Amino acid sequence: MASGPGKGIGIHDLSFATTEFVLSHAALAAYNGTEIGKYHLGIGQESMSVPAADEDIVTLAAAAAAPVIARHGSENIRTVVFATESSIDQAKAAGVYVHSLLGLPSAARVVELKQACYGATAGLQFALGLVARDPSQQVLVIASDVSKYELDSPGEATQGAAAVAMLVGADPALVRIEGPSGLFTADVMDFWRPNYRTEALVDGQESIHAYLQAVEGCWKDYSGQGGHALEEFAAFCYHQPFTKMAYKAHRHLLEYCGHDSGKDAIEAALGHTTAYNRVIGNSYTASVYLALAALLDQAEDLSGRPVGFLSYGSGSVAEFFAGQVVPGYRAQLRTAEHRAVIERRRPLDYADYRELHERSFPTDGGGYPTPVQTSGDFRLAALHGHKRIYQRR
Ligand code: CAA
Repeated sequence: MASGPGKGIGIHDLSFATTEFVLSHAALAAYNGTEIGKYHLGIGQESMSVPAADEDIVTLAAAAAAPVIARHGSENIRTVVFATESSIDQAKAAGVYVHSLLGLPSAARVVELKQACYGATAGLQFALGLVARDPSQQVLVIASDVSKYELDSPGEATQGAAAVAMLVGADPALVRIEGPSGLFTADVMDFWRPNYRTEALVDGQESIHAYLQAVEGCWKDYSGQGGHALEEFAAFCYHQPFTKMAYKAHRHLLEYCGHDSGKDAIEAALGHTTAYNRVIGNSYTASVYLALAALLDQAEDLSGRPVGFLSYGSGSVAEFFAGQVVPGYRAQLRTAEHRAVIERRRPLDYADYRELHERSFPTDGGGYPTPVQTSGDFRLAALHGHKRIYQRR
C-alpha cells in the first residue's frame, strides 16, 4: 500500500519547538477555584506553553525547522508549506519570514494554508503529491500555532503553543505515508475566529460532538477506500486539543467498529502519543504531529508497523490516513532535544501569564520594540510601520 516511487514518500525528519514560558494548570486552578482533577483527569492537561512578548508563530516555526535544515541542508527544498490558524497577516505567508530567517534558497515557493487544526495534514498531502511528481525535491511542511481563548472562559484551560517542522521527501527515514485517505467535510460552527478577533470563539460541547462525527465520517471513507483494518494499527495519533479528547475519539471509533472499547485497549493504542500535548496544550495544526513525535520518541520499536493518523480541523475537515514506520527510524529521532525544549520553559505565575495574554501591539503604524523575554535563537524584535521585524541571534 506504499505510495509513490521506489521506497515510498513520507516524513524524513521531524522537529518541534515550543515557547519560552509555561503556565501550570495548578496555577490556573488556584486562580479560578477549579478542582485540579478536572484539568489533570477531566481534560488530561498538566500545563500549557505560553509565548513570550517577543515570540510568535514565525519564531516558533523557525526554531522548529532550524535543526532540520542544519541536519539535511536546504538545497533540495523547493517548497515550504506553512500551516496555521493563528496567522499574523492576511496577505503575506508567515513562511516567507521563516524562509528568510533560515536562509532557504530563493528558488522556492512558499505558501500558507488554513483550515483550522487540519491545515498541516493538507500540507503533508500536498507535499506527497509534489514529491511524487519529482522525487529529487523535498518539501518543508511547518505547522505553527498559538492557541488563544478568552480569559476566564472554559477554553482558557485548553490553550497552548508549538510548531512542528517536517521534511517530506522520497525514501523517508521516519514514516512512509500510505495511499488511501479517509476524508470528511461538514459545515459546522464549532470553533472559529473572525478576522477582527485575536481569540477563538468556540461552542465547547458542539466541538466535541463535531469531532466525533468527523472521526466516524472519515473512518467510514477510509474503510471504503480499502485501508487497513482497525486491529492492524500499532497506535493512533489523534489531533489533541486536550489529551482526553483523543481518548473520547478512540473510544468512539472502537465502539463504531464494534470492538472492545475498554480502558486497556484504548491505553495500548494511545498511551505513548499524549506525553507532549499533555504539557504543551493545544497547538492546533501541530498537535497531531506532536502526538507522532511523542509516539516515536517513547514507544518500543515500531519498525514496519502501521500507525493511524486522525487529523481534525473545526469547521470542519478531517482526514484519517496511515503511515508505515521505517526500519532504522530510531537513529534519526530527536528525543533528547524534544525533551529539552519542553524542560527549558520558564514557569509563569498567573498574573504574569494574564499580562502576556492581554498584550497586543498598537495598530497606529508607530515603532514598538518588544521586551527581550525569549532566550531562543529567533525573536520578534519589533512592530515598525506595520511591519514585523525578526531577529536571528
Ligand atoms: N475530576 C475529574 N474529572 C472532572 C472533574 C474532577 N474534579 N470535574 C470535571 N471533570 C470532567 C468532566 O466530567 C468532563 O469529563 P467528560 O467530558 O468525560 O464528561 C471534563 O472534566 C470536562 O468538564 P466540562 O465538560 O464540565 O468542562 P468545560 O465546560 O470547562 O469544557 C471544554 C471543557 C469543552 C473542552 C472547554 O475547555 C473548551 O471549550 N475547550 C475548547 C474547545 C475544544 O478544545 N474542543 C475540542 C474539540 S474541537 C477541536 O479539536 C479543534 C480545536 O483544536 C479547537
